[in-house]
This record gives sequence, C-alpha cells and structure tokens, in this order.
Amino acid sequence: MNYFNYHNDQLLAEDVPLSDLAACYGTPLYVYSARTLRRHFRVLSEAFAGTDSLICFAMKALSNLSILKLFSDLGAGFDIVSSGELMRCLKAGADPGKIVFSGVGKTDEELEAALMARILMINVESRPELHRVSAVAQRLKVQAPVSLRVNPDLDPGTHPHISTGHRDSKFGIPLSQVHEYYAEARTLKNLDLAGLSTHIGSQITETAPFAEAGVKVAKIVQELRATGVALKYLDLGGGLGIPYQEQPPSPVQYAAAILGPLRDIGLKIILEPGRVLVGNAGVFLTKVLYVKETDVKRFVVIDGAMNDLIRPVLYEAYHEIVPVVPRVSGERVTADVVGPVCESGDFFARERDLPALQAGDLLAVMSAGAYGFVMASNYNSRLRPAEILVNGAEVHVIRDRDTFEDVVRNEHIVTLKGGADA
Ligand code: LLP
Repeated sequence: MNYFNYHNDQLLAEDVPLSDLAACYGTPLYVYSARTLRRHFRVLSEAFAGTDSLICFAMKALSNLSILKLFSDLGAGFDIVSSGELMRCLKAGADPGKIVFSGVGKTDEELEAALMARILMINVESRPELHRVSAVAQRLKVQAPVSLRVNPDLDPGTHPHISTGHRDSKFGIPLSQVHEYYAEARTLKNLDLAGLSTHIGSQITETAPFAEAGVKVAKIVQELRATGVALKYLDLGGGLGIPYQEQPPSPVQYAAAILGPLRDIGLKIILEPGRVLVGNAGVFLTKVLYVKETDVKRFVVIDGAMNDLIRPVLYEAYHEIVPVVPRVSGERVTADVVGPVCESGDFFARERDLPALQAGDLLAVMSAGAYGFVMASNYNSRLRPAEILVNGAEVHVIRDRDTFEDVVRNEHIVTLKGGADA
C-alpha cells in the first residue's frame, strides 16, 4: 500500500498535489512519500516480529542521504556494496554495527574502510577474497567478521539480469565447496566466522524459491555446527518483489516461507530488502512534450528519458503510467511512451492503453522508488532530476536537479600540440 492517491481529480503524494510539485520544481522529478517508506518498513518488521532479526536496507535501491536517515532513525541497518555506499550511510547516521557488505569485487581500500568502520559483517564471495580479507585484517590488526555467501543453485523465476542464485551466476560460493571454504577460513588469521549469507535474486514473485533457499542454508548451518563452526548470523538477502503488474507474496507470506525451514536455527536472521521498502514509495513525474502520430503508431514524447529511469529498456520492466489530472472525456488510445534520448530503447511503455493525452499533461510513472534515481545517468548530457520527499503536507527537496556545471564538473578542456597533422 502507498500514499499516492487521487483526491478531487488530482494525484497527490500524501497531502501534496503532484501538479504543485511540478509547477514548483519542474519536471522530470522523483517524488517519494515518507509515510509510505515508514509503512513499508513497519509492515516488513512486523512480519518478522518474534524472530531475532535485523533489516539491513539494500541501499543500492535508493541511496539519497535523507532516505537513509529516515531508515536509520527507524532502526534499520544497511546492506552496502561499495565504500561509496559505506560513506553515504555513515554520513546519514547509520550504526556501523548494523552494516553488512556484499559484492563480488571489494577492493583492498574498501575492505580497509569497512574494517576501520567496524561494520557488522563482510559477506565474502570467493576464495581469493577470503584471503584478501584476512590479509587486510592482519595489516590493520583487527578481527574481520565474515560470512560466506553461498550460491544455492536455484531458479528464482525472475528476469535473468536480476537473478543471482543460479550456479552460472558470478555470485556466491558453490554449495559443493562451502564446507571446504569454512575449513580453510578457520586456518586463516584474523577472521571471525560470523555468518552465512545468500541472496537469490530480485523482484521474486513466488514464495517457493525463498523456501528452497531456506532449506538449503539450514542444512549447511546444521552441518557446519556438527563440525564445530558456530555461526551467529544467517543473512538471507533481499529479493521480495512488488506489484508492478504481477502479484508477489505479502511480507507475511514471505516471512513464513523463508523462516519455515529455519524456525529452530538459533541464529540472528539478517534481511537485505531493497525494492520492497522503496519501490512503491516513489513516482517519476514527467510532462508530455508532444503527441506524435506516424502511419503506424502514436508516440507520447515526454520530458523524462531512459537516462532518468532505465528499468523499462534494461529489464523490460512494466511501470504503470497514470495522468496526474485525468481528463473527463475518458477517451483511450494506444501509444508508446518515449523520451527525448537518441536511442530506440528510450521508452517507458510500448503499445500501452492510455488516456488521450496532450502536450503539457503531467504523467506519473509509478513504482519508481527502487532502482530509479540511483541508476540515472547524464547520458545525452541530460541533467539528472531533482528528488523530493513529501511528508504529509511538508515538501523537502532532498536533491537538487543537476546543473550544467555539475555535468561538466570533472572535465578538462585540453589544447593538443600538433593538432594539424591528421
Ligand atoms: N542483497 C544483495 C546482495 C543484492 O545484490 C540485492 C540487489 C539486494 C540485497 C536487494 O534486492 P531487492 O530486495 O531490492 O530485490 N536494478 C535492478 C535490481 C538489481 C538488484 C541488485 N541486487 C532492477 O531495477 O530491477
């Protein structure tokens, strides 16, 4: 459930008409609802109530400092994948003791920063990384809390680009090698074998893959225990989908599926949800520039583009698109919704049934809170949108729109010698 609703024929973010935000801050614009963010966090927390657990928000989904502060204030920890993310969440006030560090390619500098910050756990994904963590920890003279990320070899039934739990993927340690890894880890210096982790993919809309992963990791934990490896944490990753178009399980059904095989495991459960916390808490607000008709098609050209929201072309993702002020006529048309970038992949919807639109109409692209702004770029030298956080009737600009100066900030114009010899 979210707090983007129509009231008096206007789409509002909580108590604020989106048309007011467009008038004040321009388009395209990302708009988030604080009440929705809080609600999502509460509903997920309640689904795991009674279980010793910690929710570490996968901040790659939406990493604006104000959003991180909101979650940190609610007691969340964070799942990070780079030292940039580490710095961001620390800057926003995160408790380092609630940070887990995932990813297949952590550099020495990143490991060093994480250990110096005293984060909860580093989720190790390969043998060389295990050795690297041990070496860095020895150099720093600290104990490194590590977990080994296992690849449970299952099909989460999601888009191949966001599926991670299959044996062909670059993620995690093969199930068949997990015991060797832990045995080896025990021989390495300055490692504290704190946990086991897994993450099978994103936008998962069935409970079965979560339950299957739960059964597989529970078995490993029991086997490790029998060999004297006593872990503290079991990190089950993220991946719960949201209703873009499909109907995913509710947080309660998800919790039941994932915890079912783990009832008596006796470890603290760590979760790394991203999308489910923020996806439906954000919309992408954009304006119609032109309605263009060719012999075969109608195109609605908007001022937002693939550089602002890349999900449709990258994952064939479906985002609902609704008018901010619906027209009374009720006339419907079929159209492609496209942006100004010079690529055929610059689309938001294809052959979509939409209300008849005119230049100047505002549209809200729904469910844009997760993997929206964070994946935006300056392609075509476009300015990345501003981000707005609404809280009741309060409006906060949490990131200014890029300026042209921002776009060229790190560039240098050089004058080359011998320029005439080509
Ligand atoms: N933990 C790890 C280790 C991850 O790699 C991810 C996401 C998550 C947690 C959070 O997954 P979530 O709960 O958000 O599904 N850009 C893509 C999604 C990429 C997901 C990457 N990893 C998209 O727009 O759909």
